[in-house]
Amino acid sequence: MKALCAVLLLLFAVPCFAADLTGNWAVRDPLPDGTFRTTYLNLHQEDSRISGTIRVTQFCYKIVESTGGPDGFTLTGSMMDGASERRVKYEGKLVGDELHVATRRRADSELTQMVARRAPQGEGALPRRIPLPALHKVADNNLAKTPPMGWNSWNKFRGQVDDGAVRGMADALASNGMKDAGYQYINIDDTWEGSRDASGNITTNKKFPDMKALADYVHSKGLKIGIYSSPGPNTCAGYEGSYGHEEQDARTYAAWGIDYLKYDWCGARNLYSDQEMRAVYQVMGDALLKAGRPVLYSLCQYGRDEVWKWGAEVGGNAWRTTGDIRDAWDSMTTIGFSQDELAPWAAPGHWNDPDMLEIGNGGMTGDEYRTHMSLWSILAAPLLAGNDLRSMTPDILEILTNREIIAVNQDKDGKQGRRITKSGDQEIWARPLSGSAEAVGLFNRSGASAKIAIKWSDLGLKSAPKRARDLWAHSDLKLDGAESEYSVMVPAHGVVMLRVAK
Ligand code: GLA
Repeated sequence: MKALCAVLLLLFAVPCFAADLTGNWAVRDPLPDGTFRTTYLNLHQEDSRISGTIRVTQFCYKIVESTGGPDGFTLTGSMMDGASERRVKYEGKLVGDELHVATRRRADSELTQMVARRAPQGEGALPRRIPLPALHKVADNNLAKTPPMGWNSWNKFRGQVDDGAVRGMADALASNGMKDAGYQYINIDDTWEGSRDASGNITTNKKFPDMKALADYVHSKGLKIGIYSSPGPNTCAGYEGSYGHEEQDARTYAAWGIDYLKYDWCGARNLYSDQEMRAVYQVMGDALLKAGRPVLYSLCQYGRDEVWKWGAEVGGNAWRTTGDIRDAWDSMTTIGFSQDELAPWAAPGHWNDPDMLEIGNGGMTGDEYRTHMSLWSILAAPLLAGNDLRSMTPDILEILTNREIIAVNQDKDGKQGRRITKSGDQEIWARPLSGSAEAVGLFNRSGASAKIAIKWSDLGLKSAPKRARDLWAHSDLKLDGAESEYSVMVPAHGVVMLRVAK
């Protein structure tokens, strides 16, 4: 087409207005919270081939296949970060000055129709890569001497969290026994963010009219408040990230009274490689210290680049070790039972984080949620409830507030437990506790109840312990001192958790 136009122009001095898809096309989708999601299709049409890029706020794709032209085309984009196989497909046609396009947001969802308009070249392009600083050790902030405990909005509320819900959670946690049991942080996950003002300060969206007032409210309950951001230009849900504004955002958080930051890689993947993560996370570690307010720093990059080996060096108090948890037995156990080898990297102030709790969200049974709570306690994992605290059943509250289990999680020595035996679906994990004691979890991962036996010699004991207590039954075992092991029936997908005094 281009070649033909050039010939026509040369021979007859006739400008050629033939329809062409070449250009930067933008779709601006308003969300109810007052923010926008923008899709940019930056297309280059050459005869029957369409190349270019598609950027859907936080996701960038290179066009790898195309068919058709202005009267009807299809495009396939492949994620540009090299680490993901994710693909998107668009179909559409040129209608006057508009590009009418349609895509499926998920493979199984309906086609979403959109109208794209021409935008200036360069608009919507990824920002330039800011050079990274040399590595150094970020000073310890002396927080999180035991694993953080609290609540986080994501697992239950996703993008539906707002000021009212957060106040409601603070009210519930402060009055239902959770605060007394040690839960302290009320953490707002993704989707609170608005745009940046003329000075580059991050603002909140309509769901959070006044973050400082909300922080004051949470503090008035004797609790602490957490927030979420990304080192990239955008967060996982497509909201404004901290890219290039790290120190400014850290100052804003301090001014609001924020006590905890979850910092999620997501949008940074379009600019930096996994090997550069450490320097990227160091930037915010430094910024938080410089802002002068104690802020617990929680890294979220799904365990890439063996974060447990360097998370503490960049000032991290906790680091996610896996992808996202779901409220399902398979997801919870695949994550929880895969943490054994990470034990050496946990210590007071610096924790492996196998993701937030799903207890009470409805996808698992009581026994399964007891397994979740027990395993996370043996793993010295952060205990961040992820359910609606305003409406949970007494059973769920009892699981979340079992003080004997929480005492294991919060043990001051901060040693993460390990798997000590495995036989088929039955696993025994043990965590050394302060004062010559040990927490022992007898886990039955099978779908039928099973007898599990712990040999005292597996705990390094020559004979039965001085005292052993069942932490879910809240009763001491009756031991006569002569047995070489303790055996017990454990329900399907359930656990018996013991505290053994050596
Ligand atoms: C990622 C994180 C989640 C949550 C979402 C928010 O998926 O791993 O825990 O924070 O982003 O968009």
